[in-house]
Amino acid sequence: MPEAKNLVAPLSPALEAFLARTDVETPYVVVDVDLVEQRYHQLVAELPAAGVFYAVKANPALPLLQRLNDIGSSFDVASPAEIDRCLEVGAAPSQISYGNTIKKRRDIAYAASCGVRRFTIDAVPELEKVADVVADAEVCVRLRHDCGGADWPLSRKFGCEAPEVAQLMVLAAQAGMRTGVSFHVGSQQRDLTAWDTTLEVVAGIVERAHEGGAALHFLNLGGGFPGAYVDAVPSIPTYGRAVRAALQKWFPQGVQELMIEPGRYLAADAGVLRTEVVLVSRRSPDDLERWVYLDCGRFHGLAETMDEAIRYRLRTPHDGTATGPVALAGPTCDSADVLYEKNAYHLPLALAEGDHVDILSAGAYTTTYSSVGFNGFAPLAEYCVSAR
Ligand SMILES: Cc1ncc(COP(=O)(O)O)c(C=O)c1O
Repeated sequence: MPEAKNLVAPLSPALEAFLARTDVETPYVVVDVDLVEQRYHQLVAELPAAGVFYAVKANPALPLLQRLNDIGSSFDVASPAEIDRCLEVGAAPSQISYGNTIKKRRDIAYAASCGVRRFTIDAVPELEKVADVVADAEVCVRLRHDCGGADWPLSRKFGCEAPEVAQLMVLAAQAGMRTGVSFHVGSQQRDLTAWDTTLEVVAGIVERAHEGGAALHFLNLGGGFPGAYVDAVPSIPTYGRAVRAALQKWFPQGVQELMIEPGRYLAADAGVLRTEVVLVSRRSPDDLERWVYLDCGRFHGLAETMDEAIRYRLRTPHDGTATGPVALAGPTCDSADVLYEKNAYHLPLALAEGDHVDILSAGAYTTTYSSVGFNGFAPLAEYCVSAR
């Protein structure tokens, strides 16, 4: 397997203890909630001026949300169901930001009935929906970003161009709303200049909006902070320095309210996806490449292997022994259920049916991607552990 060049911490004792159990059927994800808390504090230390709105979509497990709520996090949600989960762990509606730019009118109304007031938009019709339904809404206008440098880009579906952002802010201000700007530089963003170049654009938007009578009440820097996959990433203090410097450069006077919406950074490295090898085979006897079929695939949570975008680190019981190239696939009767074929993964030659393959840093964007029963396989199970 290609090795991660960045420093990767060993798994926590709580994770190892769970993985040592023999009574838990695979596949499953196990998440150490203490690690999520650690990550939260690390990010707050780097960006102390920013309110953390955890992107619930990354992993909505209740123990994880509970811990984040207990330590003061706020939440970015995409749907009424995510609102319900946040309220269930005791979050106040004022701690919830409805960050999805695509909302049914009745979902906006539901959010408003729960007390949620902050909504992200990127188009006039969406602004009109919010204005129609919520008397005292605040709107965050999302700037489009090309997400260059990100392993999991979010560019095609969201955001509008800078002049439209300014125009939407002005329209919202005219409707009596408090206004802000958001952007997302793309998930697993490995280019640290992304925040600088985007904040330059935002500074221009704010000037233009100001001329139209709209103020920047809040600035939402989105997510993009990384998990530890195969490709090396800078350390989080390096990210922190880059973002702080960009803010200082383009908003030297500060901003009224600063937000970040981390998902991956808080949850990914806190989780492991344990799988079992179902079959190791070769297409022909002299084929060097083996096909390793796991009991978890693209349809059971590993959706981010699409186009081999997110390259997970793997752990096997035979690590340290001789390896050879493999293609890795899931268990379903669907030829799209292939995790890695092009990325030169190497796994031990000793790997055999029944062995566990641990997919590391799999605490984010896995469980909720799992289908409800494709080919009759159960959804991916999840367990949360803590040393407390
Ligand atoms: C609106 C919004 N905010 C935050 C996030 C979290 O991003 P990340 O996991 O890169 O931190 C996402 C991810 O899709 C998102 O759509």
